[in-house]
Amino acid sequence: MATPAEPTYQEQTFPTIDEAEEAAVREGRRSTSPEPNVNQGGHGGIRPLGAARQILEKPAPFDSVENEFYRRVRAGSYPDLEPVVPASYTAAQVRDRLGDQLDATAGNALDDQRHIYIENITSDMSQSKILDAKIGRSTTSYRENKAQQEKSSWDAGVKSFKFALGIDPVTGSTQRGWRIVAGTDASGIRVLDGMQSQSILSKFSEDPAVWDQLIGKMQGIRDAAARSDLGFIAASVFSVHGTQNGETKVDARLIDFAHAIDARNPFKQSPSPSPEGSPRLGGGPAAPDLTRLKDKYRNQFLAGMDSLIKDATRVRTTKTALATMNPTHVRPRSASPQQQPAVTAPTNTTNTARRR
Ligand SMILES: Nc1ncnc2c1ncn2[C@@H]1O[C@H](COP(=O)(O)OP(=O)(O)O)[C@@H](O)[C@H]1O
Ligand SMILES: [Mg+2]
Repeated sequence: MATPAEPTYQEQTFPTIDEAEEAAVREGRRSTSPEPNVNQGGHGGIRPLGAARQILEKPAPFDSVENEFYRRVRAGSYPDLEPVVPASYTAAQVRDRLGDQLDATAGNALDDQRHIYIENITSDMSQSKILDAKIGRSTTSYRENKAQQEKSSWDAGVKSFKFALGIDPVTGSTQRGWRIVAGTDASGIRVLDGMQSQSILSKFSEDPAVWDQLIGKMQGIRDAAARSDLGFIAASVFSVHGTQNGETKVDARLIDFAHAIDARNPFKQSPSPSPEGSPRLGGGPAAPDLTRLKDKYRNQFLAGMDSLIKDATRVRTTKTALATMNPTHVRPRSASPQQQPAVTAPTNTTNTARRR
């Protein structure tokens, strides 16, 4: 087989996941229309549905990996993952569940061919705070870092090399294995939030009990992923805590499956390894060594989760020490539902800052 012409080759391979995702946005495989509240750190286009915004509509064409992933979860193909990913619904199920909360036009607009419908895990909480941590190494955009480092032109042939050596330290995600891409305490500026990941994580809560629950949920995600035999590229742990009926509630789920890999039963749009070893995303036949690619990203994902859990555990130790030194520092929200605890951070989840 002839070597592909250079321009074709460059169109099909990407030095980073984010670069591939930007191509997906350009090619219409991701939506870009912004919607406040739920799109910080994401690609946009997510629309809350229902009186309590209890269901989110996310753009994902029928053949996209994420749409197929959720269909498989509903069909029972990944029982280990069921408890750690958001519940999902068909358009018909959304119509049934929401009933007259949807007007006729909105009901008719629901479309499985273009969207997925997932449970909004923040909808039944007040005073909530959210955090979106992207798991894995090498999740920084080439373009952002190019601007960051003020390089005028980069040789395409050394992109991957420079990325590995020169760029990831900007956000630290190579060493850390995770980075913050959105959250109540995040700025919405990706490179900044990446660099500030540890401190944004630590601001998530002052309450050691929240950290106990959060770490348990994270461990659950890690163990479920380990049992599932899937690889996850650029998936996120999305966490929330807030108040429900005067009680503190904590949840964390694995989200964002645009680039999941199932080597035994490949998704229709599985990534396939490029000649230089970076994943080729967005279509094409699955390569014979999809197993190797899956293992690589699976191991990176599990290592990233371990690192996030370790960092969260360190935060919990600090918050426990602070609470012991100053017991009034943390006051259970259930003890005084009328009153804001003195140290509670601003409770809005409506930070509309976006990544650019
Ligand atoms: N199940 C969910 N419940 C609540 N918020 C969610 C949920 N899924 C996604 N979000 C919100 O939408 C944002 C983007 O979601 P994500 O699936 O990562 O989309 P993208 O593919 O655009 O990155 C998340 O950072 C989070 O704020
Ligand atoms: Mg995302």
